[in-house]
Amino acid sequence: MSKQAKRVALLTGGSSGIGLSTVRMLIGRNWTVYTMSRRPCPVAEARFVQGDVNDETSVRLVIQTVIAEQGQLDALICCAGNGLAGAVEDCTSDEVAYQFQTTWFGLDKTIRACLPTMRKQGGGTIITISSVAAVVPIPFQTYYSAAKAAILHYTKALPLEVRAWNIRCSCILPGDTKTGFTAARRYAVASQSDESAYGVKMKDSVGRMERDEQNGMSPDKIARAICRQLDKRHPAISVVPGWNYKLFALLVRILPNRFVLRVVGMLY
Ligand SMILES: NC(=O)c1ccc[n+]([C@@H]2O[C@H](COP(=O)([O-])OP(=O)(O)OC[C@H]3O[C@@H](n4cnc5c(N)ncnc54)[C@H](OP(=O)(O)O)[C@@H]3O)[C@@H](O)[C@H]2O)c1
Repeated sequence: MSKQAKRVALLTGGSSGIGLSTVRMLIGRNWTVYTMSRRPCPVAEARFVQGDVNDETSVRLVIQTVIAEQGQLDALICCAGNGLAGAVEDCTSDEVAYQFQTTWFGLDKTIRACLPTMRKQGGGTIITISSVAAVVPIPFQTYYSAAKAAILHYTKALPLEVRAWNIRCSCILPGDTKTGFTAARRYAVASQSDESAYGVKMKDSVGRMERDEQNGMSPDKIARAICRQLDKRHPAISVVPGWNYKLFALLVRILPNRFVLRVVGMLY
């Protein structure tokens, strides 16, 4: 098989949700897919390597495995992530670190480990998963919003460094999507105590967000947006899947910040 015909992807977080849908879609489009997560990926045709994005050794090992077996890595898709809910005042430093660990540091670790391979082979596409919360921050998920905003900026700055080696980057910003994310969300312990000054409001707001997630888009919609970018020679810098969220993101750019945040405050 020629190098052009065979395309090899490494995807983190393929055991559930957006990552799992993307694995299925890529396999259907004839990609060779390696996927890394702590729980197994149920897609038999994907090559599953158990690992944690926070563990440098397992990240390096999965990349070595891809290169040893395929000799190339055309795409990296970073889907591994999780959420923390709780008022800023109620969060401990460990809880804040938990939010940034996988979502931000794990993503950065994986990308940094892949860059030498993509640079030496003269190309590759990196897809990061941020969130609409990167452009419209949400209360009681302040650290999540900040981590996702960091991903968006990182994905914009990185191509400026790696363009010379034909490495492309694209950031996907999903809105509410029906996945395992809702059930996996952690709550700051102090936020759940009756003594929290924010507890009642936090539970009401995050409860509403969780209902929106579980009534949200299919992860296949996000997977399609990812696959579309992988097929492009020049992928979009950022993509908001779904027309309603696209319109929302556009309005956010046009309307005054104070107004937008007021509306968010009224909704949540
Ligand atoms: N669902 C939404 O409404 C929504 C909206 C905007 C953005 N997003 C983002 O979309 C991405 C995917 O989330 P999802 O909605 O598909 O949630 P999900 O169904 O909970 O999937 C999360 C995936 O991340 C993996 N993961 C978590 N910690 C990991 C670690 N330490 N090492 C390796 N893999 C790890 C999980 O695998 P294991 O647990 O097996 O390790 C799982 O496969 C996340 O970055 C999330 O922030 C989701």
